[in-house]
Amino acid sequence: MSTEEILRVCDLKQHFRINRDLTIKAVDGVTFQINRGEVFGLVGETGSGKSTVARTIMGIYPATDGEVYFRGNKISQKYISRESKKDIHKNMQIIFQDSAAALNPRMTVEQIIAEPLKINRLIKDKDDLQNRLKSLLFEVGLDETYKTKYPPEISGGQRQRVTIARCLSTSPDLIIADEPIASLDVSIQAQIITLFQRLQREHQFSFLLIAHDLSIIKFICNRIAVMLHGRIVEIASAKELFANPLHAYTQSLLSAVPVPDPVYERNKKRIDYNIEDFNKGGDLIEALPGHYVLK
Ligand SMILES: Nc1ncnc2c1ncn2[C@@H]1O[C@H](COP(=O)(O)OP(=O)(O)OP(=O)(O)O)[C@@H](O)[C@H]1O
Ligand SMILES: [Mg+2]
Repeated sequence: MSTEEILRVCDLKQHFRINRDLTIKAVDGVTFQINRGEVFGLVGETGSGKSTVARTIMGIYPATDGEVYFRGNKISQKYISRESKKDIHKNMQIIFQDSAAALNPRMTVEQIIAEPLKINRLIKDKDDLQNRLKSLLFEVGLDETYKTKYPPEISGGQRQRVTIARCLSTSPDLIIADEPIASLDVSIQAQIITLFQRLQREHQFSFLLIAHDLSIIKFICNRIAVMLHGRIVEIASAKELFANPLHAYTQSLLSAVPVPDPVYERNKKRIDYNIEDFNKGGDLIEALPGHYVLK
């Protein structure tokens, strides 16, 4: 893995003003960076602000404060040129949890995957398109018969494979996946994670993977950030985070992860985190090399 930085998020804030008296600080000072070829996990309970981080990076909402840099260029300002927008669309792709909602039910799989190829002028002619379609479908484990199918005709797992093929079509530098397996059956979840792992190794894209469940993404992530109430409370390599969690909230999350060892499980103590202890206003301190904790 190189140390070239693909994404940098600096003190990002996203405050939603609901009315005069209520502002939801969904993201409240989030800082992290992702290198080329790195798999970065973002985990946290529901409502912690994970999707809002992803949407703000994508520019779906303008940031309340803070900056986002993509391949060294600032992309968080309100007005960005058409050229940069096009470049971002091509090189940063997002996958949502609910593939059924994300795919147009009236478009065939062929049309869905071909769209970004056409928009970005990545194909020479019809033959080229057919070859690209075939290889993209093959990469995600689907055969050519899927080309003529409509999203409602195929399973959730197959739809997510189509979404992944569509994402890969522009050879993006960064893929952001917001709980891409949460709506799938448990047996299918592992298949899709394994698929992501293989594709990431082959294509070396940087990957921001958002999840609830630490145990599922542990194997695929290089580094993991834990979010709570709009803040990152801890960042470390996946191995280090599991071996040596420093923040009490991370410790409580890990105590809930099942371990495939019955004796260990029986004696394991569930650690509860008291949210009143949470110091939301602290700073991320490098407690050990590469291991940051909110203090
Ligand atoms: N567009 C919006 N307007 C107002 N509040 C919002 C908006 N989007 C999100 N929120 C609020 O911001 C907080 C963070 O929401 P977000 O969806 O980012 O959490 P999440 O970590 O992705 O949760 P989940 O795991 O359930 O997907 C929540 O309190 C949510 O209600
Ligand atoms: Mg979410």
